[in-house]
Amino acid sequence: MAINTADYQPSRESLAALTPVLTKRWLSPDAWKIDVYERLDGYTGLRKALKSHPDDLIQLVKDSGLRGRGGAGFPTGMKWGFIPQNDGKPHYLVVNADEGEPGTCKDLPLMMADPHALVEGVIIASYAIRANFAAIYIRGEAVHAARRLRAAVEQAYAKGYLGANILGSGFSLDLVVHSGAGAYICGEETALLDSLEGYRGQPRLRPPFPATHGLYASPTVVNNVETIASVPYIVLGGAAWFRSMGTEKSPGPKIYSISGRVNHPGQFECGLGVTLRQLIDLAGGMQPGHSLKFWTPGGSSTPMLTDEHLDTPMDFEGMMSVGTMLGTTAVQVFSDQDDIVYATYRWIAFYHHESCGKCTPCREGNYWMVRILHRILAGQGTHQDLDTLLDACDNLLGRSFCALGDGATSPVTSSIKYFKQDYLDYIEGRKAPMFHGELVGAH
Ligand SMILES: Cc1cc2nc3c(=O)[nH]c(=O)nc-3n(C[C@H](O)[C@H](O)[C@H](O)COP(=O)(O)O)c2cc1C
Ligand code: SF4
Repeated sequence: MAINTADYQPSRESLAALTPVLTKRWLSPDAWKIDVYERLDGYTGLRKALKSHPDDLIQLVKDSGLRGRGGAGFPTGMKWGFIPQNDGKPHYLVVNADEGEPGTCKDLPLMMADPHALVEGVIIASYAIRANFAAIYIRGEAVHAARRLRAAVEQAYAKGYLGANILGSGFSLDLVVHSGAGAYICGEETALLDSLEGYRGQPRLRPPFPATHGLYASPTVVNNVETIASVPYIVLGGAAWFRSMGTEKSPGPKIYSISGRVNHPGQFECGLGVTLRQLIDLAGGMQPGHSLKFWTPGGSSTPMLTDEHLDTPMDFEGMMSVGTMLGTTAVQVFSDQDDIVYATYRWIAFYHHESCGKCTPCREGNYWMVRILHRILAGQGTHQDLDTLLDACDNLLGRSFCALGDGATSPVTSSIKYFKQDYLDYIEGRKAPMFHGELVGAH
């Protein structure tokens, strides 16, 4: 990539990739206030939805092809369709606002700039799955966003969008904003449900799945903030409109958060399938003096890519075709001046710290991997250490109780795959050690 200056202008082609849908109100002053939101089309999707049959709404979301924005890309309409009907049990909607994946920064800005879009989506989704209670589980550190959401919920109650008999429709819904205590594992949907119930946040054995045995052992849909905030737009615009953006199998707009060695880090909403080259262009180009070396497409749990992949479409299929995943579209850009071994060490230190300890491969594997990486950075590593790291990953991937353990292998395997030489530079003494002595205690 070229070296660019601050007065950089993105190309017409990159600018054309922008599709402001979820972000369209972000720059409107006071858009988080309910009267401004209403002026900007807010709650019109809800009025329309309440006149539809719930099953038709589920079908609409299925037809739109909306896929979960929390990382795995599971089809949202299909998930809603799994909720058993006429089962005599309460149904719940839980919004996952934990946003803990390293590098991810899309849900918090959305909740800060446009909290009513989420509240409106919650009401429509709850109506569709016949839930009369919904919760937004927000990460504990995000006090500012929790405050803003609670204010939005209060305003929505005051205007009759929440509570009993919403807008005279006969449908009632209570919505609670629940702050977690700040643990990455509580973003995993079953750990989140345990935490919401007041237990220690640790993943549950599946099956049974939350669709039948979720919150308080009742049918529950867990969806990401961006997924739910997309719903009012689909209700207003229709499935065909939604499919006019993105790609055939990954339709719709997506908020990409880009950070690292770019001139203007931030959120850029584009149709799924935009390329890294376009995103870097939109973010003002690479910082002066830096050229792209490695990047994550969707947070540290998605295997890293290199400058070979600048033009690969960033949708679910495109990222899979090059051995990684779209994840949360947390694009972290690193340059030739960043140390990949150190970056990997820091990520594994994070997984080690955040491992809930329930299963041995993840608890022990991350403990040992962080020590081996530290040893390599301290100039004490051996060639055998690289094999041991890969062996540890072999014992984690597919053998861990939840996807946190699987995700921890991504930085290690992908960095060794693409940049083994950087490890060898430390091991064979060509690079000065970064640390001295052994890692003692925590990291
Ligand atoms: C360790 C871990 C952390 C996760 N953190 C989040 C998160 O912060 N937000 C989120 O929406 N999904 C997170 N997920 C994914 C959720 O388990 C779940 O798939 C998602 O909330 C489903 O919503 P969606 O279908 O709308 O994507 C995490 C998964 C794992 C394994
Ligand atoms: S993989 Fe890690 S986070 Fe997940 S259950 Fe096992 S120890 Fe806990």
